[in-house]
Amino acid sequence: MGTIVSYISPANTGRTDDPDPATGLTSRDKYLVRTSWARIMKNSTDSGVALLTLFLKNHPEYLDLFPFKNVPLDQLSTNKRFRAHCSSVIYALASIVDALNDNELLIQLLLKTGSSHISRNVKAKGFKDLQDATVELFSAVMKPDELEAWKKTLEVAFGVILKGLVEGEKL
Ligand code: HEM
Repeated sequence: MGTIVSYISPANTGRTDDPDPATGLTSRDKYLVRTSWARIMKNSTDSGVALLTLFLKNHPEYLDLFPFKNVPLDQLSTNKRFRAHCSSVIYALASIVDALNDNELLIQLLLKTGSSHISRNVKAKGFKDLQDATVELFSAVMKPDELEAWKKTLEVAFGVILKGLVEGEKL
């Protein structure tokens, strides 16, 4: 009985000794990211609103890039256009989290996220600032081991996004 439990539980919560050769993420990292992300998705639009509001509060200079640029910061969270945008962004992030076990798909999604923002005039610093805002928000809602797994995952993910952006800019 004890043997069965000790055999099953590490598999359920992920191993810590199997870093993926391409990303460095272990099964445990992916488990922590996936399970904590499920909490975020319970209120997906509100979570997106929280993230993008924090991002734009920290960096109001990016507001100019968006069609809702004339909405005052303190009214953004109730603006329908802004909320719709936040919902699209959170579902784009959800497909990235969903692809954590499929490196080829993951890399294509991330490269596309970078390259699809070139025509929107987003630069590398914008993505870096969004990565920082994500860590800031997650610091308030994640447990320490979840936060560490997220930091690792975001570092890898934003690295590939930047590659998509920079390589696309050369075309
Ligand atoms: C992981 C990072 C990001 C993801 C997953 C993401 C996702 C998306 C998605 C899915 C859209 C299409 C929304 C729609 O058409 O409804 C979009 C549009 C856009 N994004 Fe991002 N985005 C990211 C980072 C950023 C950053 C860092 C900025 C600015 C600094 C930015 C600025 C924009 C702008 C200006 C649009 C066009 C909005 C519009 O015209 O309605 N995005 N993004």
